[in-house]
Amino acid sequence: MSSSDLVELAKRRGYFFQSAGAYGGVSGFYTYGPQGATLKDNIEDSWRDRFQRREGHREIDAPTVMPEPVFEASGHLDTFDDMLVECPECGASHRADHLVEDNTDIEEAESISIPDIEDLIADHDLQCPSCGAALGGEPVEEFNLMFETNIGPGSSSPGYLRPETAQGIFVEFPQLAEYARNQLPFGITQIGKAYRNEISPRKSIVRVREFTQAELEHFIDPTEDEPDIDRVADVELPLYPAEKQEEEDGTEYVHKTVQEAVDEGLVHEWVAYYLGVGKQWYESIGVDMDRFRFRQHLSGELAHYAADCWDAEAEVGAARSAAEDSSGDEPRDGGDWIEITGYAYRSDYDLSKHDEYSDDDFTVFKQYDEPKVVERATVDPDMSYLGPEFGGAAGDIADALEELAERDRAAFEDDEITVEVDGEEYTLPAEKTGFSVEEQKETGEHVMPHVVEPSIGIDRVIYTVLDHAYETDEVEDETRSYLALEPGVAPTFVGVFPLVSKDGMDDRAREIADDLRAEGLDVTYDDSGSIGRRYRRQDEVGTPFCVTVDDETAETVTLRERDSTEQVRVPIDDLPEVLADLREGEVTFAELDAPKAEQ
Ligand code: ATP
Ligand code: GLY
Repeated sequence: MSSSDLVELAKRRGYFFQSAGAYGGVSGFYTYGPQGATLKDNIEDSWRDRFQRREGHREIDAPTVMPEPVFEASGHLDTFDDMLVECPECGASHRADHLVEDNTDIEEAESISIPDIEDLIADHDLQCPSCGAALGGEPVEEFNLMFETNIGPGSSSPGYLRPETAQGIFVEFPQLAEYARNQLPFGITQIGKAYRNEISPRKSIVRVREFTQAELEHFIDPTEDEPDIDRVADVELPLYPAEKQEEEDGTEYVHKTVQEAVDEGLVHEWVAYYLGVGKQWYESIGVDMDRFRFRQHLSGELAHYAADCWDAEAEVGAARSAAEDSSGDEPRDGGDWIEITGYAYRSDYDLSKHDEYSDDDFTVFKQYDEPKVVERATVDPDMSYLGPEFGGAAGDIADALEELAERDRAAFEDDEITVEVDGEEYTLPAEKTGFSVEEQKETGEHVMPHVVEPSIGIDRVIYTVLDHAYETDEVEDETRSYLALEPGVAPTFVGVFPLVSKDGMDDRAREIADDLRAEGLDVTYDDSGSIGRRYRRQDEVGTPFCVTVDDETAETVTLRERDSTEQVRVPIDDLPEVLADLREGEVTFAELDAPKAEQ
């Protein structure tokens, strides 16, 4: 389905549309309509179920505005940039690496350096997409993507809208570790808005300036914690490793199970575990596995915090029939690959930074089973000597001696010890340092946890689910288009219609609709237009089932399935249970033990 068709359908059927249209709209901001907001809720609920509840993790809800020091520590202030080139004629701003990707055969231009991007723009005579002016020779600059604000009146306390939900978890680590009783591993999830001042938002909800991230930060002890690979060992992963991408034609995928990917050292075991969990989840919500892959980041593409990263990518905009014809072994022309999730091994990058920049301790204290006796080198400097001798520097010299004793006890074998403080060297006799090596009993040690992070962009998942659900077929000699949404996520689960709005059929249908709502199902009631038109409307919006009351006295109704358009007769009393089973996937429509209805 083309991007413009999807956007048109999404607007017409209440999935999503550009915000504040009455005022001309603002690029990069979208509102989810009644169908879209429910689809989003359902997808978020299923994410909670798969990534949180079933994994035994806990969720938090942190603020979206955070003070500047958080982002100084995290590195976002310095390095969270995209490449910007401005048109000298019309002043339009463009993302330079995307211009290169759109106009050459180069993929992942994000990993190319700025001077090389400038050369590519000049060499390929790239022009401004807005006015056609030449961009060769124009400077490409780093543009920081964070939205800045002031906390309170005045400008003394700058803050930023969070560019990822993750930092809200990292900064609270000391409290969270205490809650987890300092027991690694543990996982914390968060779902909420993230903000990036994208240079050129595009593809509707795929690249927006306000979007929803569903993130999990799994804190582990890298020296001893291992994932329970058995839970996903047999899940097949379509992998697109960095080395394959760098090959001449760069088109081959590697199909491995999670277990094989780990055994062969292709993917870090913790990342592989979550690729397995993720693959199961995408499949369950309707992502087409023939248009899906895990692509490893090229080294120049890695975010500042990541030691390794695999993106879940989906191909969108390709015709479904083309996808079905494909063997799935090679990337095909026709669609665009979009990143829907980043699976990053963040190591101890974030916690170490917050440990360094803040006043809190971001380690966990790991208790030994048995206390250990260890030798510790310590100093007890003679301050009655250091004070008069070194004046104001005495305290810093004492600290430097302590640090030297921990790092290099052999240095204290000499008669004189030299330490450096603020670039200046200070020398003192060894006996004034009070150096000694003592045996100490230790009950545990401080560990800086590592982090593995599945970071899911809910908006891009929604776009993919809608794109992959779009189908057309022939029904009663007419072309029908419908959204084959999975029953578990479809925003409206069942449409209830009276065959005609008279003879009490409408009252009976309303009663049934109310009863089904009381069972917790999403129900729509519709009595306008022909029954055929009502079915088409629900097909197009993706409602998996419709119930039609065709006789106010009958004890059965017609239950129709969207995808097959098959109809069966079901006793009214059984409807809630039958529909609940269909929704939970306990039974398929084809398996229902019910007589076929006349069509
Ligand atoms: P891209 O390279 O496409 O800009 P990214 O690598 O910057 O994406 P991450 O920083 O890894 O993305 O963010 C994690 C997830 O958040 C992405 O996989 C994506 O689904 C989502 N995401 C990131 N930026 C946006 C955006 N501007 N609009 C919608 N979703 C986004
Ligand atoms: N938390 C991953 C990212 O948004 O960059």
